[in-house]
Amino acid sequence: MSAIVLFILMAVYESNQQDPSLDTNAWLEKYDKYRKIIEENTEITNEDNLTPEIRLHLITPRSKLWNAKSRDSPFKDSPFFAFYWAGGQGLTRYILDHPEIVKGKRVLDLGSGCGATAIAAAKCGAKSVTANDIDPLHCLLTDMNARLNNVAINITNTDFVSDMKIGTSDDWDVVLVGDMFYENPLAEELTEWLRLEKEAGKFIYIGDPGRYLFIAAQHKPGNYLEFITRYKLVTCVSIDMNAKINNVNIKITKDNLIAKTRNFTEWDCVFFGDVFYEFDMMKTMVLMMRKSCAKGTKIFIGEPCGIFRAYTMTNELKQVAQYTLPEAAEEMLGYGTTFISEFCC
Ligand SMILES: C[S@@+](CC[C@H](N)C(=O)[O-])C[C@H]1O[C@@H](n2cnc3c(N)ncnc32)[C@H](O)[C@@H]1O
Repeated sequence: MSAIVLFILMAVYESNQQDPSLDTNAWLEKYDKYRKIIEENTEITNEDNLTPEIRLHLITPRSKLWNAKSRDSPFKDSPFFAFYWAGGQGLTRYILDHPEIVKGKRVLDLGSGCGATAIAAAKCGAKSVTANDIDPLHCLLTDMNARLNNVAINITNTDFVSDMKIGTSDDWDVVLVGDMFYENPLAEELTEWLRLEKEAGKFIYIGDPGRYLFIAAQHKPGNYLEFITRYKLVTCVSIDMNAKINNVNIKITKDNLIAKTRNFTEWDCVFFGDVFYEFDMMKTMVLMMRKSCAKGTKIFIGEPCGIFRAYTMTNELKQVAQYTLPEAAEEMLGYGTTFISEFCC
């Protein structure tokens, strides 16, 4: 998806505070045995994301875990471990480009994940940086990544959000939130917690790729979010890498063909693999398919759910195959079967 954009929103607030009882870093020793496992299963990289200034231990297409089944992962309870998420990438980019928002300030990176946002704050001259993640493995990863970038960060796995714990003025002035609106009830608790933080006078910056729950939070009564900027993510990288490992040449384009061409007649054959996840885009694509099909373009569609089939006319789709998905895909996607159809006109 080359059109992913990132929204960063800001809120500015006033005071009234409690003690968060920050815990110590003692637990890091408990998880120390995982350092070697993390080193073995991640790659140190600064590529394919928005912040080449920061080196990170991450799971990448070159790590053996990239294609592993969840049962084969040493991080069974943390399947999305060691990724650098879109919201965090944009927020980190924004901090590196605007160091003044953290310089000399006490900063909290909530849901720190791989720690990139906290590292950026430390690099930009924050007075102190606290990285917080309820997953101890992510805390350990943040510790390893902070060392890799030679910055000092306090790390805690206290659950500030569920406990509705609010920082005192001595803890932090700025709260950074990267990609935390991915599930409920977390998103709802977080919205309430951020409101309390706002009332406690904190500056809050959020990076989000436009997830549904974040959009919903923006429409809640008393919304205090203000749009700042958006970034385009680095995309098409995996297509290029996968083409190389399969020794094939593929011409790759990041152009928005739907906005640009309005039909697909430039090609003899067009494939659509699982792209009908957004209603307006699906409507436009179907119009383009009708035009292109009428001019002789062959069109094939692969999709696991029935939304597309329900939207098109019965005589427009000829089912040509049906496949049972492997167990791991079913576990991850929630679908057991995928259907291949030819678009007819
Ligand atoms: C999608 S990841 C984002 C990580 C990082 N900010 C980024 O953008 O790359 C969400 C992170 O939030 C953490 N998390 C979930 N609930 C949390 C909570 N109540 N308090 C702190 N962290 C939480 C998860 O463990 C995970 O590391």
